[in-house]
Amino acid sequence: MNITGSTKIIGIFGYPVEHSLSPHMQNAAIKDMDIDLIYLPFLVAKGRIEDAVKAIRALNLLGVNVTVPHKEAVVPFLDEMSPEAELSGSVNTIKNRDGVLKGFNTDGAGYRQLLNRNGIEIKGKNVIVIGAGGAAKGIIASLMEEYPSSIVIVNRTPSRAGDIVKRFSNNFSGAMSAAPLKREVLSEFMEKASLLVNTTSVGMGGKGRLDLPLEKLPHKAVVSDIVYSPVKTELLKDAERLGYRILDGIGMLVEQGVFSFKIWTGFDAPRESMEKALLDVINKNSGSGL
Ligand code: ATR
Repeated sequence: MNITGSTKIIGIFGYPVEHSLSPHMQNAAIKDMDIDLIYLPFLVAKGRIEDAVKAIRALNLLGVNVTVPHKEAVVPFLDEMSPEAELSGSVNTIKNRDGVLKGFNTDGAGYRQLLNRNGIEIKGKNVIVIGAGGAAKGIIASLMEEYPSSIVIVNRTPSRAGDIVKRFSNNFSGAMSAAPLKREVLSEFMEKASLLVNTTSVGMGGKGRLDLPLEKLPHKAVVSDIVYSPVKTELLKDAERLGYRILDGIGMLVEQGVFSFKIWTGFDAPRESMEKALLDVINKNSGSGL
């Protein structure tokens, strides 16, 4: 990588940011495309996101990714929002166009692309989303555009799931409801679901396990996790053991990165290089508990 006076800068705002895999993935794409650009990690503490956003303009960054815990907190400081970002109230990508900052949410588009690329059709089907945080909002906003007949949002704190239903259901043609993360309540939803997606951090770093009656899912159901480290979470291992098709979190990480790269550069991203860079770093770090 040859850094010059004209090299443009993109990066990621997060806290923590040390374990982010986006720098590996995006720098692999930059190298592959031979663009005069670099992607850097920025450790932005809670409460400093407004300053960090101002720095995008002051330092003339081309754009950034935004990750935990800033995806929702960043919204008031942006000039414009894409429709998906507006609906979800959550931003994971910012583009700087001559000082005008626009927020996007590529998590949802990435997840939708993952389903499409794998030939998974949810039109008229029932979907269960576990979680009600920023990641859930982005994914739910984009799942709605695939016209499932119902979306059940399951969360440890049911009121947060209820808030999403209030916010989203007017824009949704199907039925949307909230449910607590309790085995006995979930069985009836499981029996009818075609897709279950975990959007919580449970399982990240091999920690925790969702207590779900997975065995109640129909045998053709797909179980999907956005946690990508480990690649095969306990949820996915359980699902595989029960014979369900699984989708791991690497797929969505790549697809959201592909959309973000296009937003910043205008170029179609080299998906294979990005996926390879991710798998290389995960394999390299698997011994050190990443
Ligand atoms: P993000 O923006 O990454 O989605 P978040 O807004 O903190 O992060 O949301 C995290 C989600 O994971 C929430 O749905 C959270 O449930 P609560 O709303 O009840 O906090 C869920 N979550 C985190 N740890 C969990 C755990 N141990 N068990 C169940 N759900 C958990």
